[in-house]
Amino acid sequence: MTIQVRPVSMDDWFACTQLQVSEEQKSTFPAPVVYWLAESRFVKDPMAIYNDSDLVGFAVYSDQEHDEGDYWLPALMIDSKYQGRGYGKEALRALIQRMQKTLNCKRILIGHRPDNHVAGVLYESLGFQRISEELIDGEVVRALKFGI
Ligand SMILES: CC(C)(COP(=O)(O)OP(=O)(O)OC[C@H]1O[C@@H](n2cnc3c(N)ncnc32)[C@H](O)[C@@H]1OP(=O)(O)O)[C@@H](O)C(=O)NCCC(=O)NCCS
Repeated sequence: MTIQVRPVSMDDWFACTQLQVSEEQKSTFPAPVVYWLAESRFVKDPMAIYNDSDLVGFAVYSDQEHDEGDYWLPALMIDSKYQGRGYGKEALRALIQRMQKTLNCKRILIGHRPDNHVAGVLYESLGFQRISEELIDGEVVRALKFGI
């Protein structure tokens, strides 16, 4: 496995719109990639996730500071036919590294629906801790903190 995250380009934006989660996952991850690409006109940066030369997923992080040192990673998906092979975890690691390198971030914030247990376990396994017991806009919000 060689997972890479790369900015979506002229060459792969359409292929990214064809990536799909499973039917059941649409209840916890309802917005399609085309939505995130439209939003990225204003909130950057849409990223394509590759395993070697295969496009396997999509993610988006914001280059806009939300609060002092806080940056959001609003979406991460792996196409249903490539899930469960460790790609989501590797991609999230790569995104964290990229955000640390390119943004002066002290915390990365990430949210998921409370019934999205796979996302919760994945985020927790890389150090994202709940910032409150209450849901925020219907989501569990987690933060990964850097430094002390
Ligand atoms: C969440 C998501 C990105 C995970 O991607 P993935 O490539 O399937 O995940 P990985 O194979 O890297 O597995 C990550 C962890 O979740 C666990 N996991 C993956 N699929 C699972 C499943 N169906 N049931 C239980 N655990 C599962 C893995 O065992 C792994 O844990 P480990 O590291 O302790 O072994 C993917 O399921 C997805 O795209 N879901 C729909 C979109 C979504 O909900 N995104 C998150 C909210 S923004």
